Amino acid sequence: MQFRPLDRILGKLSQDIGIDLGTAYSLVYVRGKGVVINEPSVVAINKKTKQVLAIGDEAKKMVGRTPSHIVAIRPLVDGVISDFEVTEAMLKYFIEKVHKSRFLSLAPRPRVVVGIPYGVTEVERRAVEEAALNAGARQVFLIEEPMAAAIGATLPVQDATGSMIVDIGGGTTEVAVISLGGIVTSRSLRVAGDELNDDIISYARDQFNLLLGERTAEDIKIAIGSAYPLAERMTFPMRGRDLISGLPKEIAISDEEIRKALTKSVAAIVDAVKLTVEETPPELLADIMDRGIILAGGGALLRGLDKLLQEATHMPVYIAEDPLSCVARGTGQVLENLDHLQEVLLPTVYR
Ligand SMILES: Nc1ncnc2c1ncn2[C@@H]1O[C@H](COP(=O)(O)OP(=O)(O)OP(=O)(O)O)[C@@H](O)[C@H]1O
Ligand SMILES: [Mg+2]
Repeated sequence: MQFRPLDRILGKLSQDIGIDLGTAYSLVYVRGKGVVINEPSVVAINKKTKQVLAIGDEAKKMVGRTPSHIVAIRPLVDGVISDFEVTEAMLKYFIEKVHKSRFLSLAPRPRVVVGIPYGVTEVERRAVEEAALNAGARQVFLIEEPMAAAIGATLPVQDATGSMIVDIGGGTTEVAVISLGGIVTSRSLRVAGDELNDDIISYARDQFNLLLGERTAEDIKIAIGSAYPLAERMTFPMRGRDLISGLPKEIAISDEEIRKALTKSVAAIVDAVKLTVEETPPELLADIMDRGIILAGGGALLRGLDKLLQEATHMPVYIAEDPLSCVARGTGQVLENLDHLQEVLLPTVYR
């Protein structure tokens, strides 16, 4: 598609934005400024009136502290959009937040690049596009998250060379081999950061009759979680409710125990990467051996996961710089180079 001269002028004036719609967090990138919004993907809704009460940080604060008719909804579950109306409300909130900060809001409405989960259906794609248009976008571009992550990690996605990206988010782990602007082989599994938190909750319940909250489980994972034995032993005070007495209880938990709790899910992630490697054409595999497998998403920060994957695949494995913002920065790169990155975008209806 060619850009009309008017589009170019509007493009210069408008504050174009890239959005990573994540299961756990949504990030917004503004051209020329970088990532300006990073908020939980949570929307608080009044169940009786269906009214949206709060979005992002505000909504997350309300979780567990509000009357029962106010519910906190995560519009994305397991990396898939589960509630389109709520997703639209969230997109609108982000777009308006950026647009309103412009001088008198006289600037043209923004062009928006949205990173969407890999493998969503045409109907779902169209729904996201419409949601972004309804939310105030002038033009909408869609890109698959693994592609955006690879671009954000500065992989040469358009070259005739193989690149491999593993994006371990909250809801899904996506493994993709990319060459010549397209995804060659890929795999998506619903085992990622959220599942690791659940593993810790199950472990505490089964081993210690201790009931943990989700936030506590995540804190433990981030503080001492690992996929490979650590050089030094770490412990963490695990606090919850004793299921027998009903009273608060604290247990000092070690990195080794948490590693045990995470074993099964970590193995599922490793298997997905191994299987994708096995399916990759040999020439591309040779390229990937040069450049290494790149890890993105918050799950990339799990201690020793890079080492474990390296052992399992016999390939070098590297963690992308700032793995949590790879997809958002990738959408930003697309905004800066719309002319040259057309081929990596998904087809849209209204453009
Ligand atoms: N230091 C850390 N160690 C381990 N896990 C971490 C760390 N920091 C963040 N995480 C986990 O990363 C996950 C969030 O990652 P990310 O923001 O990439 O997901 P997302 O993009 O919102 O989800 P998805 O891509 O599945 O839609 C959470 O499960 C969080 O607990
Ligand atoms: Mg993500």
